[in-house]
Amino acid sequence: MLIASIWILSVHYGHAQDFGYDGEKGPSHWGEQYNSCAGKHQSPININSLDVKKVNLPPLALVGFDVAPRETNLTNNGHTVVVTMDSEVTPTVSGGPLSGVYEYSQLHFHWGDNDTFGSEDMIDNHRFPMELHVVFFKQEYKSAKSALNHPDGLTVLAFFFEIAPDDSPMYEEFIALLNNVTESHQSARFDTPPTLQDLIADDLVHYYTYNGSLTTPPCSEVVTWIDFKEPILLSHAQVQAFRALQDEHNTPLTHNFRPVQPLGDRVVLYNTDELIKEVDLEKDLPPAVVEDILDTNRIDGAPSASESSASKTTTKRPSSRENGASTIQSYGTLPIVMVLMAVLAVTAARGTAC
Ligand SMILES: *[C@@H]1O[C@H](CO)[C@@H](O)[C@H](O)[C@H]1NC(C)=O
Ligand SMILES: *[C@@H]1O[C@H](CO)[C@@H](O)[C@H](O)[C@H]1NC(C)=O
Ligand SMILES: *[C@@H]1O[C@H](CO)[C@@H](O)[C@H](O)[C@H]1NC(C)=O
Ligand SMILES: *[C@@H]1O[C@H](CO)[C@@H](O)[C@H](O)[C@H]1NC(C)=O
Ligand SMILES: [Zn+2]
Repeated sequence: MLIASIWILSVHYGHAQDFGYDGEKGPSHWGEQYNSCAGKHQSPININSLDVKKVNLPPLALVGFDVAPRETNLTNNGHTVVVTMDSEVTPTVSGGPLSGVYEYSQLHFHWGDNDTFGSEDMIDNHRFPMELHVVFFKQEYKSAKSALNHPDGLTVLAFFFEIAPDDSPMYEEFIALLNNVTESHQSARFDTPPTLQDLIADDLVHYYTYNGSLTTPPCSEVVTWIDFKEPILLSHAQVQAFRALQDEHNTPLTHNFRPVQPLGDRVVLYNTDELIKEVDLEKDLPPAVVEDILDTNRIDGAPSASESSASKTTTKRPSSRENGASTIQSYGTLPIVMVLMAVLAVTAARGTAC
């Protein structure tokens, strides 16, 4: 795992280091040196939420996301800031759109000059101020390097950021450490390494997924992208701290996102458990039928919220605020009136969102 992380770093340090985000080394020239960058299944893309295929995939199984690593480093590689971890339990992800188990390699960020843009993928032509990429390689390919030779070699869990009024305590030490890696090739070690779970969003049920590429050279088309709908919240000052980092020419790394690429013949899936939406409130449903619908909506085999926070290997539960049905399930039998209120609330929330 450590070897894999080091290799990913060497992609940035090594043969692919002479790319940038402006001018002659900018994204529009990447294809001249790296054939894949001119491919037909590139990332990022704009996701049109009205043009996705709704699916209800098996739950994502995240293992080791709640285990504090023994050692975590933050490194400025001249293109972004990269987090590598040495952990007793190497985090893995499986399930969802994935076949097989994927092992953690590294995570890094993409941002823009100001809070109006910076994410790579866009949703309905909207850019978020920043995006987190948590990179995994398929375990059977042994390393991130050899995984690049397989179309299902990598998966990236992508999280968008939004600006909140208050600092996120989960990112406190992270942001403070950015001061120690202002210059390219500087590294710093966390005193109290955060868990992966600390750095990502809660709701892991609602996501877009599609097949694409690395968003930096060599742009290999080997990535199953999983873009979570729920953003991570940071304050303006916390996002601003990333813009103080410098590239290898000691110029501020104020933006490091690739422009969106054509979708081409690809389909974007949207995972949701909104079977509950099928309830037709015009009809007077017998309580038994309502219970049946809520039952169908339950994720089979997932531990309850209280079990999952205590165990080392967990299937992360959807957050209660996003998932009325699961909340109801975890509290057991409730008066039918409350069940119907929840159905109404979920339906009403959706109505305002569309
Ligand atoms: C962290 O950095 C130290 C010093 O460069 C290095 O020895 C160690 O292997 C690194 N660990 C990880 C997990 O990247
Ligand atoms: C953000 O940057 C863009 C591009 O440089 C610029 O057009 C825009 O006015 C800026 N917005 C704010 C709010 O500073
Ligand atoms: C970060 O920099 C500060 C100030 O230069 C220094 O005191 C501290 O030891 C550094 N921490 C790490 C983890 O490198
Ligand atoms: C992604 O590619 C795999 C084959 O590697 C295929 O099975 C899967 O259906 C594709 N996913 C989408 C969303 O098109
Ligand atoms: Zn990235």
